[in-house]
Amino acid sequence: VPTVVVAGSASGAFAARLAAELQAPMVRAEAKRFPDGECSVRLHEGVRGSHVLLVQSTAPDANLVEHLLWQDAAREAGARTITSVVPYYGYARQDRVFEPGEALSSRAIGRALGFGCDGLVTVDLHKESVLQFLGGKGRAVSAVPQIAQALSGWGTDIVLAPDQGARSRAEQAAKLVGCRVDHLEKTRLSPTEVTIRAKALDVRGARVAIVDDLIASGGTMMSAAKELKRQGAKAVYAVCTHGLFTGGAAPKLLAGGIDRLLSTDTVAAPAGVDVVSAAPAVAGVLAELRPA
Ligand code: R5P
Repeated sequence: VPTVVVAGSASGAFAARLAAELQAPMVRAEAKRFPDGECSVRLHEGVRGSHVLLVQSTAPDANLVEHLLWQDAAREAGARTITSVVPYYGYARQDRVFEPGEALSSRAIGRALGFGCDGLVTVDLHKESVLQFLGGKGRAVSAVPQIAQALSGWGTDIVLAPDQGARSRAEQAAKLVGCRVDHLEKTRLSPTEVTIRAKALDVRGARVAIVDDLIASGGTMMSAAKELKRQGAKAVYAVCTHGLFTGGAAPKLLAGGIDRLLSTDTVAAPAGVDVVSAAPAVAGVLAELRPA
């Protein structure tokens, strides 16, 4: 049974890399927007009887809707199986209802995505527990090996998690780099003053990489970098899987004390960011999952 790749409009470059890794052809496919913002998608080649890989990140919301339409188009066209590949999975941060009356967003989105596919593969989820809402169909792969390889090339003395909750990803990276690991801790000094420092390690003279799952506004990285530089770090690298870099965050970070930025290609990176591809990690798990 042939495997074919459909590239959604948010993830064209990632889809092409994945197709190359898997040596699978890409299907001609087109997504259009109506003037009111609604989406229309069309497969221009047959996929009947094929294993179809739909590659499309699901953030912001318009990309999620496009992903749902691709699932429907592939089913309609007679795909044998549909695997949703979601390089960056939106709504992975809220895994429980915090306030009465709130929606559980990861459940609403997970159910919608899980309904239209036979399997779903994504990369470095903020909370892996959101996979439970995909009805056993979801799998998250780690891009940490690719990230660690780049950090080894740069020379890294300490990998830091931005907080204790993110420590296991940092530990995995540090182990592969062969360097020390710690996490950052915020201490409130007064109602207006907060310090951020590594819990146990001294960063003086060290090249430090802060490894997070995502960078959005860059606020988390910026405040940590300023403090670490003040504490004597020789270099600070801001590292993530998903580089959203909203509101011109990349140049702001580079101007504000971060020496280098690294992300994967799950989201197209702006200028100034070093990029490693997460496609080999996704290809690896897809090869394992490939149905007969
Ligand atoms: C937290 O939930 C995430 O792991 C990131 O630390 C956070 O979303 C980064 O956001 P920003 O770049 O806006 O500080």
